[in-house]
Amino acid sequence: MKVEKDIGKSGFYHYYPVVPAVVVVKSGDELDALACAWHIALSFDPPLFAVAISPDRHSFKMLKKSGEFTANFLTFDNIGIIAAVGRTSGDEIDKFSTYKIKTLPASEIATPVLKVAYAAYECKVVKSYKTGDHVLFIGEVLAVHQRGNAFDKKSKIPDLKSVTPALYLGVDHYLGIKSFGEVKVGKEDILTDKKVLKNK
Ligand SMILES: Cc1cc2nc3c(=O)[nH]c(=O)nc-3n(C[C@H](O)[C@H](O)[C@H](O)COP(=O)(O)O)c2cc1C
Repeated sequence: MKVEKDIGKSGFYHYYPVVPAVVVVKSGDELDALACAWHIALSFDPPLFAVAISPDRHSFKMLKKSGEFTANFLTFDNIGIIAAVGRTSGDEIDKFSTYKIKTLPASEIATPVLKVAYAAYECKVVKSYKTGDHVLFIGEVLAVHQRGNAFDKKSKIPDLKSVTPALYLGVDHYLGIKSFGEVKVGKEDILTDKKVLKNK
């Protein structure tokens, strides 16, 4: 493999594809949303979910003020919404009326969730850290919304027969996650079936 050292300049996209979240923020009566690929779950107990937002974003100021957000996960047929909120600014337009984005009330916070989301978290910011040119907002997940058939009842993982999650490849490229060759490889499989270890 070739070694690069000018990481930022050569495109810092090696960790893609990523399931993007649409982060919704509300401050007073104003609503805004942005696409967010830089997010991460951090803890089960308490459930913590963090988003890295640049101070350049209109939504950044709103999030600082309100201290809450919702993180919404969309299917491939809604990539238009992800791209729209991810490439326009609340500085210039009201994205919700411009793109006719429908919301549903949250149960624990004032910020709504997106109607089209197959899953959404209601988050209250418990800490924030400046991480280089972004700020990591750590949210405690106070409530979870999920579409009835989106997750397998037993395993709790996304049921790809029912939903096609949107995936972001970087630089405005998207794809849908379809199941092909889905396989479960647990500890018991590793111990009993050497065929799953192909990394030689
Ligand atoms: C797929 C995608 C993922 C993005 N991920 C992030 C992110 O993780 N953090 C961030 O600050 N901006 C991210 N952006 C950029 C913002 O969504 C974009 O700047 C948006 O226009 C900000 O809107 P606002 O000014 O109304 O807040 C992403 C954009 C796209 C298209």
